[in-house]
Amino acid sequence: MASEGTERSLGDVAATHALAAEVAERLAPGGVLALVGELGAGKTEFTRGLARAMDVPDEVPVCSPSYLLLNLYAGGRVPLAHFDAYFMDGPDDLLRAGLDDLRRDGHVVVIEWADRVAGVLPPDTLWLHLEPGQQPGERRARLQQTRP
Ligand SMILES: Nc1ncnc2c1ncn2[C@@H]1O[C@H](COP(=O)(O)OP(=O)(O)OP(=O)(O)O)[C@@H](O)[C@H]1O
Ligand SMILES: [Mg+2]
Repeated sequence: MASEGTERSLGDVAATHALAAEVAERLAPGGVLALVGELGAGKTEFTRGLARAMDVPDEVPVCSPSYLLLNLYAGGRVPLAHFDAYFMDGPDDLLRAGLDDLRRDGHVVVIEWADRVAGVLPPDTLWLHLEPGQQPGERRARLQQTRP
């Protein structure tokens, strides 16, 4: 089970997907996972691993919803809503895009660039911080229950 507060090295994409599978176990319907990290940190790759761990079929592409703001993935154990707040003007955009309705409808909600919309996220939001490591392909991950 993914432990909190400690930093973990993810040596390659497979390690990132393995952590995503552990985090998936902690996300109940209505739960929110907030992803933080710079461009290319691996937020979308992590979400792809999460979706596959939740049995979203391989035929359903998981990609950055940057310009669309929101992708919905059906066909898994729990419906998954994937937001990208990069181009949002602030937390109100996330509310207008349906955060609360999606949670009420039982989606697990994942948000890239979540630090930009932190003000409207529920108190039990799980935060995952990703950053590049020293080695090529390595990422450092930190999971916590409070905003980093
Ligand atoms: N250990 C790793 N974990 C995650 N991604 C990795 C890793 N090693 C290499 N990569 C690659 O790094 C890239 C990360 O891109 P990704 O789109 O996931 O970043 P992002 O944080 O979503 O960026 P953006 O802010 O632009 O949305 C992908 O091409 C992925 O395959
Ligand atoms: Mg992305």
